[in-house]
Amino acid sequence: MAAPIVSIRGLRKSFDDNAVLKGVDLEVEEGGITVVIGPSGCGKSVLVKHVIGLLKPDSGTIEIDGQEITQLPERQMTAVRRKFGMLFQQSALFDSMSVLDNVTFPLVEHTHLNQREMRDLAIQRLQQLGLTDVEEKFPSELSGGMRKRVGLARATILDPRIVIYDEPMTGLDPIMCENVEEMILTARQELKITSLVVSHDMASTFRMADKVAMLFNGRVEVQGTSEEVRSSRNETVRRFIYLSGTGPLTLEEAR
Ligand SMILES: Nc1ncnc2c1ncn2[C@@H]1O[C@H](COP(=O)(O)OP(=O)(O)OP(=O)(O)O)[C@@H](O)[C@H]1O
Ligand SMILES: [Mg+2]
Repeated sequence: MAAPIVSIRGLRKSFDDNAVLKGVDLEVEEGGITVVIGPSGCGKSVLVKHVIGLLKPDSGTIEIDGQEITQLPERQMTAVRRKFGMLFQQSALFDSMSVLDNVTFPLVEHTHLNQREMRDLAIQRLQQLGLTDVEEKFPSELSGGMRKRVGLARATILDPRIVIYDEPMTGLDPIMCENVEEMILTARQELKITSLVVSHDMASTFRMADKVAMLFNGRVEVQGTSEEVRSSRNETVRRFIYLSGTGPLTLEEAR
């Protein structure tokens, strides 16, 4: 696979005496789908917030495209953030704004395009994500899955190189989960976007991930392809996968 677009080395972060990250090493390869799994509270959200510079580590480095970002002043970090799209659990659309205004919002903020150009770009991006004739609608008129797609259209409208999804499937029914999965795969295929996904959904993780990294006890316990992680001999990983119901193991084997 391609070179890493994100390189995290020795990342440590404590909140008072709560040591959350204790030396995380992780590389996110360009154009691939990297999924971070791990128990609730293990620091997955804390980790991705470091990647977009919302949190500063106690020590360790994060390189984006070879540029070390942990020491960057806020003004320069804003430029780095343009390489990212973020889709958090609540897609956080503006309810009082049309779909079109939601999707063009980053263009208004960050570009000098005219109305016509912005509209064309937004409609094209919505179409790529399987949404037609929705631009005049309001978020409340759409299904949850459609809203997520609008969120992705907005997160990708500035052509980010990488999109971060923090638990995009949580709280969705199985069909909607499949929609989100397809959306992430489409982003890779159609838009050549690198995805960094935090997920609790093991089945979809194993289906779509080029790389799976399990965070446990402040470190990346195991990482590899879906197949490698699924067949890992690591006891913690085996138990985690077994309990999620997606592993080929018996409980005896998982212990
Ligand atoms: N801003 C903060 N200040 C203090 N503690 C924090 C802060 N953010 C996170 N934490 C702590 O860091 C730990 C990891 O939190 P985090 O949200 O990263 O977990 P997570 O792996 O994303 O869990 P989940 O799967 O439930 O979303 C928790 O103990 C949490 O209380
Ligand atoms: Mg979280």
